[in-house]
Amino acid sequence: MAEEEITIKIQRFDPAADKLPYWQSYKVKMKPGMTVLDALFEILNHQDGTLSFRFCCRAGVCGSCAMMIAGKLRLACETQVGQFAWMKELPVSPLPHQKIVKDLAVDYDHFFDRIKQIKPYLIGKEPYPEKEYIQTPKEREPINEPIDCILCGSCTSSCTVAWTNSDYLGPAALMKAYRFYSDTRDIADDERLDIVENESGLFRCHTIFNCVEVCPKKLNPTEAIQKLKIKVAKRKLFGRKKSSRA
Ligand code: SF4
Ligand code: F3S
Repeated sequence: MAEEEITIKIQRFDPAADKLPYWQSYKVKMKPGMTVLDALFEILNHQDGTLSFRFCCRAGVCGSCAMMIAGKLRLACETQVGQFAWMKELPVSPLPHQKIVKDLAVDYDHFFDRIKQIKPYLIGKEPYPEKEYIQTPKEREPINEPIDCILCGSCTSSCTVAWTNSDYLGPAALMKAYRFYSDTRDIADDERLDIVENESGLFRCHTIFNCVEVCPKKLNPTEAIQKLKIKVAKRKLFGRKKSSRA
């Protein structure tokens, strides 16, 4: 039986050479288990060496290959081409509303600047333990989900509020703030709330839910943001925690 072919239509754009993005189509022979990332490599290695895209782990862990595939944000390494065999053309484009470095590769600097703002590391009580902070399974429960964020940027790229407010911390950074706020080993509760309690933080979120819709790890940034809003409201009513660093 002849191998089935699929046409992959890729959005191309080189800011150094092109005025506007354009679409270019490539025919790829489908193989069992072939992912969109495999197909992009097939094109890069055998048809067009100028194609640019991001990748790293190829296992849905690093978040580097998030892109728009068939009208939905997905990880290219986790998305099988076979499911789109019925389509005349499979459209693939970069994460929307991000600065394009080239073709499917976008610039993550702005995204990671926002992550850095929330201090994405444990601020533990001193003196630090010689080995590790002990945490029971029960104490770990609140961070079981948000800790799975792979920083792919899909949520922030899909958030219509982030599209028009470049200062907005965005769902990934806010969920990261919640992740450290909820960690029983972290003592910087008030400091963390101070960072997100402003117009570019929690209160810029209009509960649009796009972030939940697109997350490849099925996480819920909206819920994390609402939980932090409740913490802020409680702090207004009852004051700052005595144990907190700020
Ligand atoms: Fe990606 Fe989900 Fe993390 Fe957002 S919350 S960066 S969509 S893994
Ligand atoms: Fe944006 Fe998600 Fe809030 S899509 S507005 S961060 S609920």
